[in-house]
Amino acid sequence: MADKDPEIVGTHSLIQKLHHLITKVSKTDSTVLITGESGTGKELVARKIHELSGRNDQPFVAVNCGTIPGDLLESEMFGHQKGSFTGAVGHRPGMFQLAHKGTMFLDEIGEMNPMMQVKLLRVLQDKEIRPVGADMPFRVDVRVIAATNKDLSAEVEAGRFREDLYYRLQVVPIPIPPLRERRSDIPTLIEHFLERHNDNRPYPISISEEAMVLLWEYDWPGNIRELENVIERLVILSDSPVVRPDALPANIRSFLSEKKIPRPKLAEEGMDLNAAVEEFENRIIDEALRRTKGNKQAAARLLGLKRTTLVAKLRRKRDADYQMPHSYNY
Ligand SMILES: Nc1ncnc2c1ncn2[C@@H]1O[C@H](COP(=O)(O)OP(=O)(O)OP(=O)(O)O)[C@@H](O)[C@H]1O
Ligand SMILES: [Mg+2]
Repeated sequence: MADKDPEIVGTHSLIQKLHHLITKVSKTDSTVLITGESGTGKELVARKIHELSGRNDQPFVAVNCGTIPGDLLESEMFGHQKGSFTGAVGHRPGMFQLAHKGTMFLDEIGEMNPMMQVKLLRVLQDKEIRPVGADMPFRVDVRVIAATNKDLSAEVEAGRFREDLYYRLQVVPIPIPPLRERRSDIPTLIEHFLERHNDNRPYPISISEEAMVLLWEYDWPGNIRELENVIERLVILSDSPVVRPDALPANIRSFLSEKKIPRPKLAEEGMDLNAAVEEFENRIIDEALRRTKGNKQAAARLLGLKRTTLVAKLRRKRDADYQMPHSYNY
């Protein structure tokens, strides 16, 4: 996981915009809040920002606010003085001291307890930390990147997350889209992971067209982590050089048969013909992209459209699809 040069694979327009944003923020010291479902690449993006920044020869320190018990988190983050609590036998630096001049990655920030939220806000504002049991604070130079898979605005609304800290953290918000909203990257990602895992095999494994269709249609609730794990497992377990649908995990195989495919019908009370036509159009476009492995030029040719027409239709489809808590308006 501690990749020195983290590679963000994908050519979907949302990923291109993400790259653009990463490049921009890496030139600054602004606080960044990365949001996205589990496995979408939040830590990868945080590392990329660090690697592209002027701090890349300094430490990148990751703290998981969700796994460190609340009462230990303070001394983990800010360190402690000798004797400040039972068991505090010596001076011990915290993560902030270790990250001095570098980047601190605060993962699962939504899990941070209210007391720590106040302390973190103070650090972000004053750029000073006070170790547990110390009389005097001291200055640190740390760039903070936070991440969460929770909807933090809803946490604020529910009174579980401080509003002032929320705004202080998301000076630059970076939402990462789930994989199912950029399916055209699935074949590229599969190739990437096949290449990585095929290294340890006597002969390389590839994915059949039919199996690729299922992998494209699957919804990937665990996003890229799930995709990587599936590919790694296929490479390890496959007895044949070509993976066919029957070799895919059962949950992926059954997904398609259960996925409801709407078949528009003229009901008694009538129907919305425009919506039905649009629905049909979207499915055919999806299929054309799938067959051409996401190549828009080739897909447009299959559909008898100009590339620009297809791109316009995709943009409209995307706008309709995304009723997300935030827009990817980078
Ligand atoms: N665009 C991408 N290209 C290549 N690999 C990716 C990409 N996005 C994520 N990955 C890989 O997927 C895995 C999961 O990514 P990461 O740990 O950054 O996700 P996360 O959002 O932090 O997940 P979680 O919320 O579960 O902590 C990692 O192995 C990462 O390298
Ligand atoms: Mg993570």
